[in-house]
Amino acid sequence: MPGDKSISHRAFLFGGLASGTTRVTGLLEGEDVLATGRAMIAMGALIRKEGQTFVVDGVGNGCLLEPEEPLDFGNAGTGARLTMGLVGAYHFGSTFVGDASLSKRPMGRVLDPLREMGVQVVARSKDRLPLSIHGPKATAPIEYRVPMASAQVKSAVLFAGLNTPGVTTVIEPVMTRDHTEKMLEGFGANIEVETKPDGSRHIHLQGQGELRGLSDFQVPGDPSSAAFPIVAGLVVPGSDVTIENVLMNPTRIGLIETLREMGGSIEILDARTEGGEDVADLRIRHSELTSVEVTAERAPSMIDEYPVLAVAAAFAKGRTVMRGLDELRVKESDRLSAVAAGLAANNVRHEEGADWLVVEGDPEGRGYGGGSVVTHLDHRIAMSFLVLGLASGKPVTIDDGRMIATSFPEFEDLMKGLGGMIEPIREEA
Ligand code: S3P
Repeated sequence: MPGDKSISHRAFLFGGLASGTTRVTGLLEGEDVLATGRAMIAMGALIRKEGQTFVVDGVGNGCLLEPEEPLDFGNAGTGARLTMGLVGAYHFGSTFVGDASLSKRPMGRVLDPLREMGVQVVARSKDRLPLSIHGPKATAPIEYRVPMASAQVKSAVLFAGLNTPGVTTVIEPVMTRDHTEKMLEGFGANIEVETKPDGSRHIHLQGQGELRGLSDFQVPGDPSSAAFPIVAGLVVPGSDVTIENVLMNPTRIGLIETLREMGGSIEILDARTEGGEDVADLRIRHSELTSVEVTAERAPSMIDEYPVLAVAAAFAKGRTVMRGLDELRVKESDRLSAVAAGLAANNVRHEEGADWLVVEGDPEGRGYGGGSVVTHLDHRIAMSFLVLGLASGKPVTIDDGRMIATSFPEFEDLMKGLGGMIEPIREEA
C-alpha cells in the first residue's frame, strides 16, 4: 500500500517546521502530499529524496519565511487547511489557491477559529479559495470546541497554536483521526490529551516550544487506499488478496469493521506496532455479504470510505443503511450526490437523503454497469466506481481518472496486477 495520505501531509508539515533533520520513509508520493511539500519549501524548509527516503531539513518552530508566491494546493483540502492554521499564526501574508474542486470547498471552518486568534482573511467569495491571510504580531491562544467532526479543523487550530504564546486548547466532542496529536508528541511538543467521562477529548498545546526532527519516521500504508482492493477482493468471485502494511489506527478502521459485520472475510495477519501506530497485513477473500445499518457514530472512523462502502453494499443481500453522512457533502465533491448519481447510472437501486444513503444490493450484480460516472475531480469517486465495474455484469466508465494520482498513483497498475481490466478510452475531439 502507498503511504497514508494524512500522515504523509503531516510528515512534511512537522518535518519542515521542526529544527534539525527528519528522515521519512514510506511517504505517499501523491499530488496532494507533494503540494504540501512544495508549500513547506516555499517557506524555508529543504526537502530532498535519497533513495526511498525523503530528507526534510526544518526551519525550527516559529521560523517559517513569508512565501513569495501563492501557495497552490491543487486538489488537497488537508494540505490547504492544515497549512492555513500553520501560517495563520505568523505575522506575514500568504495566499492560498487550488483547483476547481478545492475552490468550492468551505474554508470558514478553519478561518473562524483563526479569526478568533487574530488572523485577518481576505477572500473574493466568502471563505473560499483563492484567499489571503495575515497573522497578527502575536496570535491569541483560544479554547476552541470543534463544531463538526473534523480532524482538519482540530489540526488547523493546533498548528496555529504552535506559534502562539500560552496554551491553545481544542475540544472535540467526537474523536476523529489523531495523527496530529500523536505526531506533535513524537516531534517533542508539550501536548496533553484528556478524555472526559462524556467521551469528549480536551487537547492542550503549549505554544512556542521546540519541535525536534525525527531521524526515522515511517509512514504506514493508507487504509483509505487499501479500501479499494479490500472491497474489490470481497465482491469479485474467486478473489484471495493479501494487502501488506495497512495502518490499523482505531480512528481509521471503520470500513474494515463494517465489512466484517457484513460477513466479509478479512483476516488480520501479523498485527504489530510500527512507529507508534498499529499496522497489520490483511487477507481478503470473496464473500457473500449481507446488508447492515451503519450508525452515524461510525462516520468519523470511515468518513472517506462511504463511496466504496456503497459499492460493497451494491453486492450485499438486503438494504444497507448509512447515516450521519452530512460531511460527505463538502469533500472533494458532494460525495453523497456523486455516489447516488453513479449508482443510478449503473442500475444500482438506492435512495439518497439529506445525510443518509440506502443501497439495495444484488449479490450477482448481473444487471449492473453500462453507465458513465461523473467524478467531479474526486479521486475516491473515480476509484470506487472502477471497483464497481470489476464485479458488474457490464463495464463501468468514469469520465476522468486523472485525480486518482492525488492519493493513489499506483491504483491502476495494482488493480490490473490483481487481474482487473481497466482500459483508457480516448474520445475523439
Ligand atoms: C483528514 C481528515 C478528514 C478526511 C481527509 C483527511 C486529515 O477530513 O476526510 O481526507 O488528514 O485530517 P475532515 O477532518 O474534514 O473530516
